[in-house]
Amino acid sequence: MLLFRPAIVSALLCAVGVSAVLVDFQVAQPPPVPSGVKECTVQVLQRDFANSFGDAEVVQFTPPTDCGEPGSWSAITLNFTVTSNGTQFDRLGIFTFQNVEIWCSLRTSTPEPTFNGIIWTYVKDVTRFTPLFAKEGLFILQLDNLLETGLNGIYSTVLHATFYASSREHPPAVQANKIIPLSTLSNTTGNDASVPPGFSINVTVPENTVSIFAEIIPSGNGDEEFWYFSVADEFLSDFPDGTLGQGPFREVRLLVDGRVAGVAFPYPVIFTGGVQSIQAAGGKPITSYGALDLPTYFIDVTPFVPLLTDGKSHNFTIDVASAEADHTILSNWFVSGLLQVVTDSSSKRTTGKMTSYNAEPFAVSSNTGHVDSNGDIHITVSATRKISITSEILSGSGKLTSVAWTQDLTYVNQQDYLSNLSIQNLFQSSVGSSKSTHNGASTVVDSYSFPLTINLTNLNPSGSFFSSGFDHSYNRNLDPGLFLGSTIAERQTAFGFFNISSSGNTGNGTNNNTQNTFQRRVNAAFDNITLDEISGSLAKSSAPAIDNKKVTGQTFAPPRRPAGHFGF
Ligand SMILES: *[C@@H]1O[C@H](CO)[C@@H](O)[C@H](O)[C@H]1NC(C)=O
Ligand SMILES: *[C@@H]1O[C@H](CO)[C@@H](O)[C@H](O)[C@H]1NC(C)=O
Ligand SMILES: *[C@@H]1O[C@H](CO)[C@@H](O)[C@H](O)[C@H]1NC(C)=O
Ligand SMILES: *[C@@H]1O[C@H](CO)[C@@H](O)[C@H](O)[C@H]1NC(C)=O
Ligand SMILES: *[C@@H]1O[C@H](CO)[C@@H](O)[C@H](O)[C@H]1NC(C)=O
Ligand SMILES: *[C@@H]1O[C@H](CO)[C@@H](O)[C@H](O)[C@H]1NC(C)=O
Ligand SMILES: *[C@@H]1O[C@H](CO)[C@@H](O)[C@H](O)[C@H]1NC(C)=O
Ligand SMILES: *[C@@H]1O[C@H](CO)[C@@H](O)[C@H](O)[C@H]1NC(C)=O
Ligand SMILES: *[C@@H]1O[C@H](CO)[C@@H](O)[C@H](O)[C@H]1NC(C)=O
Ligand SMILES: *[C@@H]1O[C@H](CO)[C@@H](O)[C@H](O)[C@H]1NC(C)=O
Ligand SMILES: *[C@@H]1O[C@H](CO)[C@@H](O)[C@H](O)[C@H]1NC(C)=O
Repeated sequence: MLLFRPAIVSALLCAVGVSAVLVDFQVAQPPPVPSGVKECTVQVLQRDFANSFGDAEVVQFTPPTDCGEPGSWSAITLNFTVTSNGTQFDRLGIFTFQNVEIWCSLRTSTPEPTFNGIIWTYVKDVTRFTPLFAKEGLFILQLDNLLETGLNGIYSTVLHATFYASSREHPPAVQANKIIPLSTLSNTTGNDASVPPGFSINVTVPENTVSIFAEIIPSGNGDEEFWYFSVADEFLSDFPDGTLGQGPFREVRLLVDGRVAGVAFPYPVIFTGGVQSIQAAGGKPITSYGALDLPTYFIDVTPFVPLLTDGKSHNFTIDVASAEADHTILSNWFVSGLLQVVTDSSSKRTTGKMTSYNAEPFAVSSNTGHVDSNGDIHITVSATRKISITSEILSGSGKLTSVAWTQDLTYVNQQDYLSNLSIQNLFQSSVGSSKSTHNGASTVVDSYSFPLTINLTNLNPSGSFFSSGFDHSYNRNLDPGLFLGSTIAERQTAFGFFNISSSGNTGNGTNNNTQNTFQRRVNAAFDNITLDEISGSLAKSSAPAIDNKKVTGQTFAPPRRPAGHFGF
C-alpha cells in the first residue's frame, strides 16, 4: 500500500505532544501596507468551530466610514487568528465575501493542533477586492470541523479587517470597476464548487468592458489531495489494490463558451497534515508554503472581450483535467474564480475582433514507464501546453488596443518504486511562463518553477518505519495585471524518521525554510523552532511600479506602498 493517502497521513498527526503553546505558521511574505496613514480595524467575525459541518459562520459586514470614503482606501488586510486546544485534523477554511471567494484563496488549511494548544495568525492583503469591501454584504466563513472520539479540538477564530486611509503620498489603490464571481453564489456556505465534473456559470459582462482579468482558486482534496503521487492508470495493475490512479498530472482550465481561455499547472500544495510536516516530529510547527494561503492563478481574458460585450450571457467553466486518455480525475477539487472587469469611460459598447486563437482543448501529454524483472516500477508522465490568443479591441471612446495572451508551460513527474515498493521516490518539475500584452505593454506576467522531491524508504518492510527526505520550492514572479505583483523564492527541505504504529506514532526530523523575498530562514526540529532569522526589505523585491498604461481606457494612480510591518 502506498503511504501517501490522506487517511494514513492523517493518522500520523497526533504523535507528539509538546510542553508549551506552539506558534505554528507558514513562512510567508508579509503584506506591504502603507505607514503613516489612518488605520481602521474592525472585527468581521468571531466563532468557535466545534461540530460545524454544514454550519458556516454567516455575517453581514459593513465597511468603516472613519478612514475615508468607502472604496478610497490605499490598502486592506485581513487578520485571521486561530487557537485550538485539542487534537484535530486539517480543516479547510473558505472565506467568501459578496459571493466571491477572497484572500488569494482564503482557503486556509488549519494547522493540526497539539494537546497543549496552538495559536496562529495570518495577515493577508485583500486590497484587490476593494470594490467588494466598498459596500456592505454577506461575509461567510466555512470551516467544517467535526468532534468525535480522539478528535476534540475546537477552533476558536477571530477575523479582523484593517482599512488604510489614502493620502497624497498613498493614493487610493488601483481597482477594477466590477468584480464578477465565478462561484456557486450560495448565501449559506463557502462559494467554491466541487469538481469533477466541471463547474459552469452564466456571466454577463457590461457592454463597455475593455479588459477582464480572471483569478482561479483551485484546491485538490479527498482522493486528489496527493494528486502529484497518483499512479498513471496504465500501471495501476502493478500496484496493490486501493492505490489511487488517474496519474499525477493536473491542469486547471478556464473555458469561455466551451473554448480554453487559459490554464494553470497548479503548485502542489501540501497541507499541514502532509508529508513534510511529519518529519518535523509529528506535524509541527512549520507548514508547507501555500497551505495557509493557497496560490491562485491569473488569466488575461481580455482577448475574449469582443465576443463577450454583446449584452448576452456567456458560459464560463472551470474544470481540472488529467493526462489520462479520458482526462478524468478523482474526487475532488474545490474550485472558484472571479473576473476583475475594467470598463471604458464611455458607456458605448466595446467592439473589435479576436484575430487569432491557438489553444488545444487539453495539454499534450505522455505516460511512459516500465516494470523491471525484479518488480521495480518506473513511471514518467510529462506534459506541455502552448496557448496564444490575440484580439483587437475598440472601446466606445475610440481607443484601439491590441491584446495578446500566451502561455508556455512544461511538466514532468518521475516516480520510482523500488525494493518491493519499500522505496518510493518522486521528482516533479513544473515550469512555465504566462504573459499578456496590451498595445505591447506587459500586463499579466507569471513565470514560475515548482520543483518537488519526496524520497521515502521503509526501513522495516514488515512494519512501517520510514526515513524520508523532502525538497519543495515555490519560485514565482507574478504580476496579476492591475495589481501589485510579487517575487517569491521559497524552499523547504526536510529530513526525518517516523514510525507508524497502533501503539502510537513517533518521529523526529528537521525542517528548513528559506524565502529569498525578504530572507526569513526558519528551522524546526522536534517541535521547536531552532532558527528564525528575518532580514532584507520586502519593498525592493515585491512592490514593482505599476504601469498606468497597462489599464486600457482608464488612468489609475499607481499605488505606492512602502514596506510595512511583518504580518505575524
Ligand atoms: C477547549 O476549550 C473549550 C472552551 O473553553 C472547552 O469546552 C473544551 O473542553 C476544551 N477542549 C480541550 C480538549 O481541552
Ligand atoms: C443571495 O443573496 C442575494 C442578495 O440578497 C440574492 O440576490 C441572491 O438571490 C441570493 N442567492 C441565493 C442562491 O439565494
Ligand atoms: C445558462 O444559460 C442557458 C441558456 O442561455 C441555460 O440553458 C442554462 O441553464 C444556464 N445555466 C445556468 C447554470 O444558469
Ligand atoms: C458550458 O460549457 C461547458 C464546457 O464546454 C459545457 O460542458 C456545458 O454544457 C456548457 N453549459 C451550457 C449551459 O452551455
Ligand atoms: C512484498 O511486499 C508484500 C506486501 O508488503 C509482501 O506480502 C511480500 O511478501 C513482499 N515480497 C517480497 C519478495 O519481499
Ligand atoms: C529521490 O527521488 C528521485 C526521483 O525518483 C531520484 O532521482 C533520487 O535519486 C532520489 N534520491 C535519493 C537520495 O533516494
Ligand atoms: C537544516 O539546517 C540545518 C542548519 O542550517 C542543517 O544542519 C540541516 O542539515 C538542514 N536540514 C535539511 C533537511 O536541509
Ligand atoms: C516502531 O513501533 C513498533 C510498535 O510500537 C515498535 O515495535 C518498533 O520498535 C518501532 N520501531 C522503531 C524504529 O522505533
Ligand atoms: C531520530 O530517529 C532515528 C530513528 O529512530 C534515531 O536513530 C535518531 O537517533 C533520532 N534522532 C534524534 C536526534 O533523536
Ligand atoms: C524544545 O525546547 C524546549 C524549551 O527550550 C526544551 O525544553 C525541549 O527540550 C526542546 N525539545 C526538544 C525535543 O529538543
Ligand atoms: C492579528 O489579530 C490578533 C488577534 O486579534 C492580534 O493579537 C494580532 O496583533 C494581530 N496582528 C496584526 C499584525 O495585526
